Amino acid sequence: MLLELFFLVSAAFLPTNARQWSTSDQCPTSIRTTVPGGHYDDRYTDSETRRTRPPNFGTMRSVHSALLKCPNLTSLDLRVTLLGCSEWPDLWNFPFNVEGGDRYPPLKKLRLEGYSFDEQPGRGVGLKNSDEFYGAWLPERLFDWWRSGNMQKYFQYKSLSAEQRDKTNLELWFDAMDWSQIETLGLLDNRGQHHFMDKAPRYLKSLRSLEIWGGWRGSNNTVAFVTNLEPNSLTNLTWIGGWETNDLQSILESHGQSLQHLEIRDPENDRQLTQAFEKDQLLLLSQIAPSLKHLSLNIRRNGTWPFESFSIIASSPSLETVDLWLDITSDCQRQKPQMYSVAYMKWEREFRERNESIPCQGEDRFQQPFLNESSALEVFKHMRNAKSGEQLRKVTFWAGDWSRSWDGPIYIEPWIEGRSAKVVCTTEGMVEGEAWCTVEDGGGYWKNRARWSEEELEEFDRLDLMT
Ligand SMILES: *[C@@H]1O[C@H](CO)[C@@H](O)[C@H](O)[C@H]1NC(C)=O
Ligand SMILES: *[C@@H]1O[C@H](CO)[C@@H](O)[C@H](O)[C@H]1NC(C)=O
Ligand SMILES: *[C@@H]1O[C@H](CO)[C@@H](O)[C@H](O)[C@H]1NC(C)=O
Ligand SMILES: *[C@@H]1O[C@H](CO)[C@@H](O)[C@H](O)[C@H]1NC(C)=O
Ligand SMILES: *[C@@H]1O[C@H](CO)[C@@H](O)[C@H](O)[C@H]1NC(C)=O
Ligand SMILES: *[C@@H]1O[C@H](CO)[C@@H](O)[C@H](O)[C@H]1NC(C)=O
Repeated sequence: MLLELFFLVSAAFLPTNARQWSTSDQCPTSIRTTVPGGHYDDRYTDSETRRTRPPNFGTMRSVHSALLKCPNLTSLDLRVTLLGCSEWPDLWNFPFNVEGGDRYPPLKKLRLEGYSFDEQPGRGVGLKNSDEFYGAWLPERLFDWWRSGNMQKYFQYKSLSAEQRDKTNLELWFDAMDWSQIETLGLLDNRGQHHFMDKAPRYLKSLRSLEIWGGWRGSNNTVAFVTNLEPNSLTNLTWIGGWETNDLQSILESHGQSLQHLEIRDPENDRQLTQAFEKDQLLLLSQIAPSLKHLSLNIRRNGTWPFESFSIIASSPSLETVDLWLDITSDCQRQKPQMYSVAYMKWEREFRERNESIPCQGEDRFQQPFLNESSALEVFKHMRNAKSGEQLRKVTFWAGDWSRSWDGPIYIEPWIEGRSAKVVCTTEGMVEGEAWCTVEDGGGYWKNRARWSEEELEEFDRLDLMT
C-alpha cells in the first residue's frame, strides 16, 4: 500500500499468447506494432482475443523478415521501447546486412517511435573494440570476441569498402528502400533523430504529412529538416514538443501555401509553462497560410482569457476547426516541490510545525479561468463573431495532461498525471442558441478532492518516510 503511494508501477504487463509472424505466414499489407510484445496499446485485450488472433510482430527480427518478404506492404507503424521493468526489445533497429543487398517494399506510410538510426553496425567489431575483458589473457579475449559473434563479422566485413562498413543503420535503410514513395511520416522520440533529420530530406520527394514528437530526444535541426523539404509540399504538419515560438515563422515561410492542417504544441508537465505564440506570431497564420483549415496550439491564460489572441486566430480565412491546449496547473502549484517527494514532505511539514495553513491548496492549484461549459462557450462565441471567411465549426478545448500513461520502468507519478479536462464546442447538427459546448471529460476537475487525503498524508508523516 505504501509502496503503491510512492511508486506507481504501470499496469502489469500481460504476456501475449499469439505467436510471432514467420515467413511461412500470410503477408500483411500494413504492420502496426510495439516491440517487445506486439500489442499496440492493447494491454486490456482479453485473453481469448489474444489467443485466437493472427501471429504478431513482437520482435524487430519478425518485422524485418516481413519487410524483406512482403512486396505489398505499404504501411509500417512501429514503436520500440522498454515496457514495464523487464521487457526489452530484441533490437533497437532492423538487422540490415552490412554488406548491403536487402530490399524493402516502397512504403507509403511510416511511423517510428524509439528506433535507433545512428548506430554503425559495421563499426566496433574488431578485437581492439572487444574491451569487455580488456587486460584479460589474450586467448580469453579471443574467445570472447568469437563468442560475441564480432570475430565472424569482422572477417565478413574486412573486404567491404570503408564507406560501406561505416554506414549507419539509417544509411543501410536508405539503400534498401525507395524512400521517395513515402507520403506520411511520423518520427516520435527516436534515437539519433538528429541524424535522420540531417540525411533524409533529399529522399522524401512525396512527403505530404509529417508528424514529429521532440520529447526528451528532441533535436536541434527539426526546423532545418522541415525547410529542406520541397517548398510548399506539406499539407499536414504536427510538431509536439521541442520547438521554439519563433520556429513558426520559418515553417510558414516554407510550407505556408500548402498547409491545411497545423498542430504545433507542447504537452504540459509539472515543471514549466507550455510555450505559447505571441500575437505577432499568430498574425502570420492569416498572412502566410491561406489554406489552413485546422489549427491546434497552446494558449496561455493567466486569470483571464486572451481574447485578443483568439480574435487573431479567428482572422484566418479558411480556418474551420481549432484545438486549444490549456495548462491546468496554476503558478503557485508549479512552484511547489515535486509532489510526494522528500522535498515536498519537508516543505509541507514546515508549514504544519508553524501552525500555518499550507499554501496553494484546493482550487488554487488550478489555472484560472477554469475550463467548463460556460467559459468555453464564451470563447467559442467570441471566436465565431471575430471569424472572417469560412465559419468556425468546432473548437475543442484540452486542459492538462493528455499524454499516454507511462508504461516504462518505475517512476514517481507527477502531480499533473491524469489531470485533464476536455470540452467540445460545435455548431454541427445544431441550431443557433442551442447548447454548443459539452464537457466530454474531467468536468469540475478543480473541485475534485486531492488524490491523497489529509489522513493519508499524515500517515506518511507518522511513519517518517521522508527521512
Ligand atoms: C501482392 O499483390 C498482388 C496484386 O494485388 C498479388 O497478385 C500478390 O499475390 C500479392 N503478393 C503477396 C505476397 O501477397
Ligand atoms: C545539435 O545537436 C547535435 C547532436 O545532437 C550536436 O552534435 C550539435 O552540436 C548541436 N548543434 C547545435 C548548434 O547546438
Ligand atoms: C490532413 O489534414 C486534413 C485537414 O485537417 C485532414 O482532413 C486529414 O485527415 C489530414 N491527413 C493526415 C494524413 O493526417
Ligand atoms: C500571472 O499573473 C500574475 C498577476 O497578474 C503575475 O504575477 C504572474 O507573473 C503571471 N504569470 C505568468 C506566467 O505570466
Ligand atoms: C500550534 O498549535 C498548537 C495547538 O493549537 C499549540 O499547542 C502549539 O503551541 C502551536 N505551535 C506554534 C509553534 O505556534
Ligand atoms: C466555470 O468557470 C468560470 C471561470 O473560472 C467560473 O467563473 C464559473 O463559476 C464556472 N461555472 C461553474 C458552473 O462551475
